[in-house]
Amino acid sequence: MLTTRFTEALGIEHPIVQGGMMWVGRAELAAAVSEAGGLGMITALTQPTPADLVKEIARARTLTDKPFGVNLTILPSINPPPYDEYRRAIVDSGVTIVETAGSNPEPHMELFREHGVRVIHKCTSVRHALKAEAVGVTAVSIDGFECAGHPGEDDVPGLILIPAAADQLTIPFIASGGFADGRGLAAALALGADGINMGSRFMCTVESPIAEAVKQRIVAASELDTNLIFRTLRNTARVAKNAISDEVVQILNAGGQFEDVRPLVAGARGRKVFEEGDLDAGIWTVGQVQGLIHDIPPAGEVVRRIVAQAEEILRRRLTLFGNPAPVG
Ligand SMILES: Cc1cc2nc3c(=O)[nH]c(=O)nc-3n(C[C@H](O)[C@H](O)[C@H](O)COP(=O)(O)O)c2cc1C
Repeated sequence: MLTTRFTEALGIEHPIVQGGMMWVGRAELAAAVSEAGGLGMITALTQPTPADLVKEIARARTLTDKPFGVNLTILPSINPPPYDEYRRAIVDSGVTIVETAGSNPEPHMELFREHGVRVIHKCTSVRHALKAEAVGVTAVSIDGFECAGHPGEDDVPGLILIPAAADQLTIPFIASGGFADGRGLAAALALGADGINMGSRFMCTVESPIAEAVKQRIVAASELDTNLIFRTLRNTARVAKNAISDEVVQILNAGGQFEDVRPLVAGARGRKVFEEGDLDAGIWTVGQVQGLIHDIPPAGEVVRRIVAQAEEILRRRLTLFGNPAPVG
């Protein structure tokens, strides 16, 4: 049993979280991760309205009795979704764990605190993690530069970010970005984290509600097959390398502005990739860790496998230190 401060604070069995994923984090996946003893996360904004989110939460409850969370990603946008109503739907549904991401969690803390919701804030720097700690979150999740989605602009990989966070944070924290197996979990624990958060690995599972062709592409792809888009706009996103993301990089590197790439990066096109399996229909998110993903198992098996492998590594190392093994 890999019990950590994080598993204790969140009331879960294994220190493995499935982070929020737009178009992927639906009830089946979240419930499968939680049912296996990890922490699954429904992605609020994947639901078209707050009322749909309420239904999705109810659906997850028919699939598992174990705790699961809801991701609420708050990004600056021209036409923002009704964030307050989504937040209200979460607390009214009795959800007790929320992953916040995208901006400072402070404006949400009062309501969440009132309803006994524990907040895991996901961020990409030690300074933002410290800020989240100061406003009272239960735990933080820190994404290294390897991660899928938004790695921030500091470009600090997990190997440095995780121990740097461990040196400064008091609350439990989990390492995110680049994790897919038990070697990663054992390494994260060794670096001072209390668990791991994964996106890409869970995207490539049986319960993940995306087209089979996308999962097969992840299995076939290597760690080299991602692009960083929007670098010049200081809004970097790590996405799958394809014809569209190549074009976006090219236009922006040549001095283009957001308006020049807007039609290419439309959310509706990315959604089409996941729904129809047309890999070049638009921009879709995945991390460098796809180079370590070689199959499409049930999500519960991913959790069990990672725990078993990490335990085996940690046990072997401890045995080695206790009883020096012959070399060679
Ligand atoms: C398809 C996809 C969609 C994502 N959407 C979101 C999102 O809406 N909100 C969020 O906070 N993180 C999002 N993420 C980031 C993940 O929650 C997680 O932090 C990240 O995938 C970790 O890196 P990894 O893919 O190397 O495990 C997304 C990741 C993927 C792969």
